[in-house]
Amino acid sequence: MDLLNLFLSVWWFSCFIAPIQHVGSVSQEITCYTCSNKTTNFDCNRYAVDRPCFPDQTLCYTKHIMDEYGETTLLSKSCATKEQCNHRTVGCYLLANHPINMKCISCCDIPYCNREIPTNETNAILLLERQDSNKGFQIVFYWTGVFLYIKLWILLISI
Ligand SMILES: *[C@@H]1O[C@H](CO)[C@@H](O)[C@H](O)[C@H]1NC(C)=O
Ligand SMILES: *[C@@H]1O[C@H](CO)[C@@H](O)[C@H](O)[C@H]1NC(C)=O
Repeated sequence: MDLLNLFLSVWWFSCFIAPIQHVGSVSQEITCYTCSNKTTNFDCNRYAVDRPCFPDQTLCYTKHIMDEYGETTLLSKSCATKEQCNHRTVGCYLLANHPINMKCISCCDIPYCNREIPTNETNAILLLERQDSNKGFQIVFYWTGVFLYIKLWILLISI
């Protein structure tokens, strides 16, 4: 009987946890310009795939490689995870195997924010602009769940 109670409680609890995660993932979903190995920004954006990123990909990523005159030689844009896009990965670097070429990487977190391409240290940055408006709601929702869970436990124990 104890096992059954435990099972019921866990099931109840997961009924509250699942919607919280759902709310979280919906609010995170973004769409980015995506292209690979294009030579102009116009081409990249024109042929961009209009498809939302996977739930764990909360950022838009741009990699821009320039020659010594600052002309684009290679341009790629994609969705990215927080691991791929952070303060350490963004910026401009000289390419190790081709030191006259510069690689600039930028990341940002609102839909279609990777329209423009990074060309120097000023714009090769991690730009975070999204408001986490669901956060407060989630916390209230979570603690309501915990409260009901405890109440349910007391109810089950007293039976
Ligand atoms: C783009 O270029 C990189 C590096 O040269 C290569 O590894 C990759 O396969 C290319 N991707 C496409 C889609 O051509
Ligand atoms: C960086 O690039 C932008 C756009 O190309 C330009 O307006 C800006 O002056 C540049 N900044 C520096 C410090 O070179």
